[in-house]
Amino acid sequence: MSITLDHITDNFCTTVIRLVFESMLDTNINSGSTHGLTLEEVEQILNRYKSVHRVLLDGEVIGVFNPGTVHPDLKKGWELDKHKTYGRIGFVYIDKKYRGNGYGAEVIKQHSSQFDDYAECCAEDNVSSNKMLEKHLTFKKRIYIPIRRAYYNIYSKEIGA
Ligand SMILES: CC(C)(COP(=O)(O)OP(=O)(O)OC[C@H]1O[C@@H](n2cnc3c(N)ncnc32)[C@H](O)[C@@H]1OP(=O)(O)O)[C@@H](O)C(=O)NCCC(=O)NCCS
Repeated sequence: MSITLDHITDNFCTTVIRLVFESMLDTNINSGSTHGLTLEEVEQILNRYKSVHRVLLDGEVIGVFNPGTVHPDLKKGWELDKHKTYGRIGFVYIDKKYRGNGYGAEVIKQHSSQFDDYAECCAEDNVSSNKMLEKHLTFKKRIYIPIRRAYYNIYSKEIGA
């Protein structure tokens, strides 16, 4: 498998725009607030924020993701060390026709390897995402998020894993 990850700030191609558009309609990623946006509006948003991370398979864009860090306010509930900075991916979206080939798990593996400390949060009912995270991270705990009215699973990277 030869995927690479990169970060671009302009020249967003139609595939990137389509994948970001689809991710905004995906209920595993967004809770409805972005429904109704057009492709043109998504392109405008990308041009405004000037940032998207791509998943490339032999040079072809097959996914997009949005990395960040775990917000300090979340660390206590996730049972993380308040003194450490934890990498995470806010969302990852793999093109439907490329799913089930291990690419999502490879994104987590490559991205998390850049951090000493790393954690993710995933809705309990998102079967494919939980399976993806389990491949390279360790299940830590299950939490209830009242604002989402749902249970989520917390994963973290074990040192040396
Ligand atoms: C979650 C997502 C990124 C996974 O991408 P992917 O490339 O299909 O994932 P992988 O192929 O690496 O799959 C990882 C594991 O999950 C399993 N899996 C994938 N989709 C599955 C499904 N629908 N049902 C059951 N298992 C599934 C795979 O078989 C694999 O396990 P295995 O190696 O033991 O066989 C992709 O499904 C997606 O874009 N979903 C919509 C957005 C989303 O939910 N993002 C995550 C939350 S932000």
